[in-house]
Amino acid sequence: MVMPNLLLTLSVWLVAGNLVAQATYYRHHRYVPHFFRYREHSANTENLLPDVSNPVPEVSQPGVPTYPEIPEVFHPAPEVIHPIPEAFHPVPEVVHPAPEPYYTPEVHQPVPEAFSRVSTIRVFFGIMFDAGSTGTRIHIYKFIQKDPIELPVLDNELYHAVKPGLSAYKDNPEEGGNSIRQLLKIAKKTIPEEEWKKTPVVLKATAGLRLLPEDKANALLKEVREVFDESPFFVPSDSVSIMNGKNEGVLAWVTVNFLTGHLYSNTRRTVGILDLGGGSTQITFLPKSKKTVQSAPPTYIAKFNLFNHTYQLYTHSYLGNGLFAARLATLGALGADGLDWKVFTSSCLPKKFRENVTFGGTTYKVSGIPDGYAGYKLCYYEVMKVIKGIVHQPYELKGNSIFYAFSYYFERAVESGLIDASRGGMVEVRDFKKRAKEVCNKMTKYRAINPFLCMDMTYITCLLKEGFGFKDSTVLQLAKKVNNVETSWALGATFDFFRNLNIH
Ligand SMILES: *[C@@H]1O[C@H](CO)[C@@H](O)[C@H](O)[C@H]1NC(C)=O
Ligand SMILES: *[C@@H]1O[C@H](CO)[C@@H](O)[C@H](O)[C@H]1NC(C)=O
Repeated sequence: MVMPNLLLTLSVWLVAGNLVAQATYYRHHRYVPHFFRYREHSANTENLLPDVSNPVPEVSQPGVPTYPEIPEVFHPAPEVIHPIPEAFHPVPEVVHPAPEPYYTPEVHQPVPEAFSRVSTIRVFFGIMFDAGSTGTRIHIYKFIQKDPIELPVLDNELYHAVKPGLSAYKDNPEEGGNSIRQLLKIAKKTIPEEEWKKTPVVLKATAGLRLLPEDKANALLKEVREVFDESPFFVPSDSVSIMNGKNEGVLAWVTVNFLTGHLYSNTRRTVGILDLGGGSTQITFLPKSKKTVQSAPPTYIAKFNLFNHTYQLYTHSYLGNGLFAARLATLGALGADGLDWKVFTSSCLPKKFRENVTFGGTTYKVSGIPDGYAGYKLCYYEVMKVIKGIVHQPYELKGNSIFYAFSYYFERAVESGLIDASRGGMVEVRDFKKRAKEVCNKMTKYRAINPFLCMDMTYITCLLKEGFGFKDSTVLQLAKKVNNVETSWALGATFDFFRNLNIH
């Protein structure tokens, strides 16, 4: 079966109006009249997604234990006559006879022969909230499906973030709900009104809520659910939940390998991922050696189905080993008593530094050691206690040529000058170590940028080397985005929503 290549195409999102909320970045609001033309141009070799070896899985095929039935809610309209050719169909077959002006231009660009028989183009959206420990982010994905027998193409993403995270509202869930309401306004501005009731809205909370007492976490989830219910979007029954760590790692791996084209390629090469959040950190990769699987704790192995493959991954999420939780653990403050009067000190901090640090809605007093020593060696020794004996070293790490590292790995590499924020880049593990030493031994210089930079860089170095057991020469690809889409578990979670990956 010869099918046209699937191009992962990304394009500038058109947004009207100003975004009011605080954000980690704003997408440029550019009006691009020849919208679809950019789709052709933005495709590059990395994003050529040849489907030669992985034809579109056909759900209706008997005997293939593929994807569960699409929930009935997705097919309210009687116009769904033909069997769903593949599980990616989230919403009723909506034919867009006259796309709204918003997206209209240039639908009839010259297209490859194989496309030209297609008469209907389906556009659909998905809204995924990432409720993390340090912020809540909304990802709005736009997919285009040119043909029912083809996989949809991710057209673009709109991303926006607010701080603090939901867990900061543990004693005031209503305020937490307001932060979601604020982000939903952006979704309403972005998604055409006639798509609202077909567009699923999903929120997944991670370490911030995992670390809260259950009743507080549940009150927040309930509040979010109410905010969703009053929105015009489609609210699936399991739309608000705390995601487990296994899914968090697997779905970030799915995102990055999708965006880099590895999921479709027949080379069987994939990349590993390293995600460093505020509350937890994840490592995920596809082991080459059986021994990696056999020697791993059984819960560290995850299987899932995608594009007619079953993948078996090594993955783990370390709760309490995210960057902000690790800071507090290093300071001995996590779970400590006497928060009213105790001051937690560390040789990783500038000697004269004093601050109140708030994480997960709790405030801690922290300071440097005024008459003591500070510097890399002492700091390394301090952060070691958060890692040693806690982080498992996989048998094999070298089988993966490259690991993509993002979230706080990326942020701190930028802050410390290791990479350029706009481009990201490749670094070796030894570069983190070298830069950590420099930052720790010149704390005053970096204090204005981030007084915790020595602690953070030392922690990252220690986590990579002593924790996971990476060699100094291991190459890390630092990337906040790949082809203009955020490297995060959110895209993978959207795939999981649309076509159950059956992660187990
Ligand atoms: C999926 O994989 C099975 C077994 O590997 C194969 O028999 C089947 O043809 C594949 N289906 C598709 C649609 O590629
Ligand atoms: C921290 O908070 C306390 C009150 O809880 C206040 O007295 C103190 O000045 C604050 N310290 C700093 C450095 O902001």
